[in-house]
Amino acid sequence: MSIPARDQERADALRELLHHHAHQYYVLDAPELPDAEYDKLFRELQALEEKHPELLTPDSPTQRVGGRILEGFAKVRHQVPMLSIRTETDIEASGARNFDARVRRELGLKEGDPPVGYVAELKFDGLAISLRYENGTLVQAATRGDGEIGEDVTQNIQTIGQIPLRLNAGPHPGPLPQAGEGASQGEDSLSRKRERAGVRAIPPVLEVRGEVFMRRADFERLNELQREKIAKGAKNEKTFVNPRNAAAGAVRQLDPAIARQRPLSFYAYGWGQIEGGPAFETHYEVLQALRAWGLPVSERTVQAQGADDLIAYHQAVGRDRDSLPFDIDGVVYKVDSLALQKQLGFVTREPRWAVAHKFPAQEQLTTVESIDIYVGRTGKLTPVARLQPVFVGGVTVTNATLHNEDEARRKDVRVGDTVIVRRAGDVIPEVVSVVAEKRVPGAAQFTMPRICPVCGSAAVREEGEVDYRCTGGLFCGAQRKQAILHFAQRRAMDVEGLGEKLVDQMVEAGVIRTLPDLYRLGLANLVALERMGEKSAQNLLAGLEQSKGTTLPRFLFGLGIRHVGESTARDLARHFGKLDGIMDASVEQLLEVPDVGPIVAESVHAFFQQPHNREVIAQLRACGVHWEEGEPAVRAPKPLAGKTVVLTGTLPTLSRDEAKDMLEAAGAKVAGSVSKKTDYVVAGAEAGSKLDKARELGVAVLDEDGLRTLLAS
Ligand code: IVH
Repeated sequence: MSIPARDQERADALRELLHHHAHQYYVLDAPELPDAEYDKLFRELQALEEKHPELLTPDSPTQRVGGRILEGFAKVRHQVPMLSIRTETDIEASGARNFDARVRRELGLKEGDPPVGYVAELKFDGLAISLRYENGTLVQAATRGDGEIGEDVTQNIQTIGQIPLRLNAGPHPGPLPQAGEGASQGEDSLSRKRERAGVRAIPPVLEVRGEVFMRRADFERLNELQREKIAKGAKNEKTFVNPRNAAAGAVRQLDPAIARQRPLSFYAYGWGQIEGGPAFETHYEVLQALRAWGLPVSERTVQAQGADDLIAYHQAVGRDRDSLPFDIDGVVYKVDSLALQKQLGFVTREPRWAVAHKFPAQEQLTTVESIDIYVGRTGKLTPVARLQPVFVGGVTVTNATLHNEDEARRKDVRVGDTVIVRRAGDVIPEVVSVVAEKRVPGAAQFTMPRICPVCGSAAVREEGEVDYRCTGGLFCGAQRKQAILHFAQRRAMDVEGLGEKLVDQMVEAGVIRTLPDLYRLGLANLVALERMGEKSAQNLLAGLEQSKGTTLPRFLFGLGIRHVGESTARDLARHFGKLDGIMDASVEQLLEVPDVGPIVAESVHAFFQQPHNREVIAQLRACGVHWEEGEPAVRAPKPLAGKTVVLTGTLPTLSRDEAKDMLEAAGAKVAGSVSKKTDYVVAGAEAGSKLDKARELGVAVLDEDGLRTLLAS
């Protein structure tokens, strides 16, 4: 079947237009069309290509969606080998100076000679890719492999929106000609426009070299999706250790449908084979041409003069490293002049004209020596991995927090494990993941202790919370300072003259360990403290003496029981009257206190169950801390608790609402219909079917007098 000319023209025009908009969107980040419009044009082209498969070209935007699942990757011999690059061992600024000195020496430059021109680039932390364009069309994408032979990953690379399937030979050719109109315009006007825009002619053969990588945000999103899949029970799914691994996995993914779901990015930084096309004099010129042809080149690629510029670049990028949207592991310096590059040549497989100047690695391997539990000032237990010391992110790291039980389990960190530790910028070091293959046999799974390692009190994890907490508030050494300050504060025991600095000092000097120690202080041990005069010592002793006379709510609040603030302390005191009543109350009894729910009741109960806490209270009382105790609040008796009552008919004096209120106040539940569970039916005049039902089921029936008698019982 021959293709109608108008379909051919329309397909060409659509491709041109889609290329343009893909470039605006992916490379320039400046879309000119709403997504829906782009999709419409895309589907129109797809339909045309389906109708006439002969129309399909390898560079058609529709080819980005990827094809069939591969059995393996074909080998590709690189026409120009993909070299590696020498790494400057000196991490300090002198790395740049050493490189410049070497270049100058090899070029035979003297001290007074002008500085060498360089290009400074980011060293992207992904994987190297070679893109082969023939007559402007992407025909092959290959991995570096061993530098000579790589793998054909064209299908997967085509899914990267930033990589043009066809190079841009000039500015956008203007509005899309309507179907059938195109022929009259012809190739001519297009090439004239391109010439005017000063875009260089594309070489018939062009190999672009650059880095494929994954942005951090894309990486996080991908791992989030992976976690969801795993949580839903998907087998063969895993999370990725870092963006580089995720990118490498995506590029070498045999199923392009999966590769397409792994968002990748690309920057061009060099080239391999070039045949024909314009002549270039500098590396920078080539990069600019690549950019003009539609390839993404990093904005951070700059020209530099001499060592000082390189050092400044290294420092500036080092400062910005953590705020870049992707990982880099250093910067790269390249001699800009292509003539000088040629003169410098290669040693083995590394050019003398380029060097990688690295930053301190942000990830390292090390082993877990133990998992300790750190108890914070508030009693929170945090598992911490003690590590074989390792230099990462510019510092020596000896431990990393595992945050909490759930996190430790999720990462499944065990003693003896080899782990990847990451420290980026000022962020606290963290264990990224365990190297599963290196686990020593028999390594035990981590479990959170149920006992506080500092004081031996019970550690509990409340429902809905991620953290375990020590319940030994008053007794626990880790919580000592906090507990004392809380106890002494104005709203609690109101100890005049006892501030944070003094508490720190006294706890550190070992003068006070527990709350009762406060009341055992003498002038002698106070004046022995640094910066403590006799006058202030006496003032403090007077303040302590005065604080002994307090109230039960203040004392209760001062104990620092979790979830017991001032108002709950007041409620508890009012309800029970005496401290002993609170200390001995069951959870059920605590729940009877107005506004006390299960969380508070559990917390109060657990606190007083700890012998340590009871001991502290006994000692405080022995030291003379006292308050006036009251009587337990008289609670309205609830004689009808647990009973169900149904009202029917009209009572002689009580309205239905009044009767209902009285019943509920007595603890009864007032129901709307009679069943076997009904205890009483209160029936008035003109009672109907409910009364019949009560008789039928043998439920007790009362009149208004009967109701009053019942309520009074
Ligand atoms: S140039 C002949 N420039 O670092 C020089 N490489 O061995 C060839 N890399 O895996 C490399 N960013 O993928 C160059 N701006 C950059 C780079 C860069 C990252 C990677 C490259 C290769 C390694 C160098």
